[in-house]
Amino acid sequence: MQKTYIRLFLLALQLPEIATACLFHAAGATEVDAYKTINNERRSLPTEAERTAIQDVRVFDGSKFSLPQTVCLDGGYIVNLNGCHTSSEMINGTGKFLIPGLIESHTHLNDVQSLESITSYGVTTVHQMNCRNTTRCDSMKNQPGLASFFRAGMSAVGSGSMHEKQDPTRPKDTLIYPDTNVTQFTEWQFRNGSDFHKITAEANGPSLEQQIEMVQTAHSQYQRQTMTHASSIMAYQQAAGSLTDGIQHIPDDGILDASTIRKIRDQNQFVTPTLNVFEYAYKDPVLQLFFGIEPGSNRSLENAETNSRLLYQGGVTIVAGTDAVGSMSVNGTEATVPFGLTLHYELQNFVNIVGMSPAEAINAATRVAAKWQRIPDRGSIEVGKRADLVMLNSNPLLNISNTLDIEKSWVAGVEVSYITKLST
Ligand SMILES: *[C@@H]1O[C@H](CO)[C@@H](O)[C@H](O)[C@H]1NC(C)=O
Ligand SMILES: *[C@@H]1O[C@H](CO)[C@@H](O)[C@H](O)[C@H]1NC(C)=O
Ligand SMILES: *[C@@H]1O[C@H](CO)[C@@H](O)[C@H](O)[C@H]1NC(C)=O
Ligand SMILES: *[C@@H]1O[C@H](CO)[C@@H](O)[C@H](O)[C@H]1NC(C)=O
Ligand SMILES: *[C@@H]1O[C@H](CO)[C@@H](O)[C@H](O)[C@H]1NC(C)=O
Ligand SMILES: *[C@@H]1O[C@H](CO)[C@@H](O)[C@H](O)[C@H]1NC(C)=O
Ligand SMILES: *[C@@H]1O[C@H](CO)[C@@H](O)[C@H](O)[C@H]1NC(C)=O
Repeated sequence: MQKTYIRLFLLALQLPEIATACLFHAAGATEVDAYKTINNERRSLPTEAERTAIQDVRVFDGSKFSLPQTVCLDGGYIVNLNGCHTSSEMINGTGKFLIPGLIESHTHLNDVQSLESITSYGVTTVHQMNCRNTTRCDSMKNQPGLASFFRAGMSAVGSGSMHEKQDPTRPKDTLIYPDTNVTQFTEWQFRNGSDFHKITAEANGPSLEQQIEMVQTAHSQYQRQTMTHASSIMAYQQAAGSLTDGIQHIPDDGILDASTIRKIRDQNQFVTPTLNVFEYAYKDPVLQLFFGIEPGSNRSLENAETNSRLLYQGGVTIVAGTDAVGSMSVNGTEATVPFGLTLHYELQNFVNIVGMSPAEAINAATRVAAKWQRIPDRGSIEVGKRADLVMLNSNPLLNISNTLDIEKSWVAGVEVSYITKLST
C-alpha cells in the first residue's frame, strides 16, 4: 500500500520557511536576508478550549494500549480517564489510538507559521536551540492551539570556529574568546529569557574550562539546564567532561569509546542524537556541501548510526529531536529539512537503526523527553497532566510509521485546527 503525505500549509500556500541550521549555520543566506521573507502572522485562528470527552479510545500508558476508555479534558488538563460530563464536546475514539503529544527536543523554528506547520504533525512542545533575536523568538510563546515553545538564548560559539565562519552576520562581541567572561555571557542569556543555555563545542569553540563554568553558572545561579552541541568525538568528550545536561547531535567522525559512553550514562546526561539531520545531510548533495562533508574524510553516516546504537545499548537516555530548519537557501540552491514530519522520521530511525521498540521510540518523544527536559506537567496520559494529545487512526506499536496517521490533536486541551493527514 503506497502512502503519501499531504503537507497542507506548504503546498497550499507556497510560503518559504527559511531558518538557520544548527549544525553548521547558514552560509549562503544570512539571518537578516532570511527574515525579510518571513510572515509572522498566524494562518489559523485559535479555537477555544472546551470540555472534551474522547470516547472509547485506546490509551497508551508507556508500554501498551488500554482497552477502550473515555478521556476527559477540561481547562487544558486531563481530568478523568473513565468518563466525562454529558455536556462535553464528544469525540468518537472508537478504533483510535491516543498517545501523548509529541515533544521535539531540537529544532530551529523561525516564525509562527513554522510553529503552525510543526503543530500540524502532532508536535505539542518544541525546544528551540538558538535564539539570536529574542523578540522574534518570544512571539512564538503562548500561541493557543500551537505547540508550546521553550528556547535557548544565543549559543556560546567560539571565535574562529566553524559556526562563526558560517554565521558571518553575528556580532563579533557576542562570540566567546579565551578571555570572555562566560559567567556573564551565561547570565545575559538567562536574563534575556532563555529557558536553557546552549553551548557549541567544536574546534576553536569555548574551552572545556569555559564550558564547565557556563554549566555551573546555569545550574547554581538559575537552576536551569545546558544543552551542548557536539558532532565530533572531541566535542563529545568535552560535553561529557563539562557535565552539561543534554548532549545534542552525534559524532560522525569516529566511534565513541566505551568509557565515554559509561561516563555519559553514569553522570545522568542525556543525548539527542538528531540522526534525522545526518540522514538528510548525507543524501542531499546540496546539504553535503553545506555541512562540509568531504568524500574520503573520516566522517560517515554509518559512524553517526553506530554511535547512536552504542549509546542506546550502553544505557544512555536517548531523546527525540531533529535539527529541522524548514527550508533554507545554500548559495542560491534550496535545501529542506522539514518541520514535524522529521520528528516522525526520527522515531522510525530509533526503531529501525537504533534498535528501540516502538513504545520506547514514542517515549523518547513523550514521557522520557518530558522528564529529562524537566517539563513534568506533560508527556503522559494521566489525570492532572496537560491535555497535549494525538489521536491516531492506526496502532503505532505495530508499525512506528503509524504515528503519522493522525486524526486529531490537542494542545493544552485546544483542538489543533490544521492536521497534516496521511492519505492512503
Ligand atoms: C464511532 O465510530 C465507529 C467507527 O467508525 C462507528 O462504528 C460508530 O458508529 C461511531 N459512533 C457514533 C456514536 O457515531
Ligand atoms: C527582531 O525581531 C523583531 C520581530 O520580528 C523585529 O521587529 C526586529 O527588527 C528584529 N531585530 C533585529 C535586531 O533584527
Ligand atoms: C565575570 O562576571 C561576573 C558576573 O557578571 C562577575 O561577578 C565576575 O567578577 C566577572 N569575572 C571577572 C574575572 O571579571
Ligand atoms: C541580553 O543579551 C545581550 C547580549 O546578547 C546583553 O548585552 C544584554 O545585557 C542582555 N540583557 C540582560 C538583561 O542581561
Ligand atoms: C577526523 O578528522 C579530523 C580532520 O582531520 C580530525 O580533526 C578529527 O580528530 C578526526 N576524528 C577522529 C575521531 O579522529
Ligand atoms: C558558496 O559559494 C562560494 C563562492 O562560490 C563558495 O566559496 C562556497 O564554498 C559555497 N558554499 C557552499 C556551502 O556551497
Ligand atoms: C510500516 O508502514 C510503512 C508506511 O506505510 C511501510 O512502508 C512499511 O513497510 C511498514 N513496515 C512494516 C514492517 O510493515
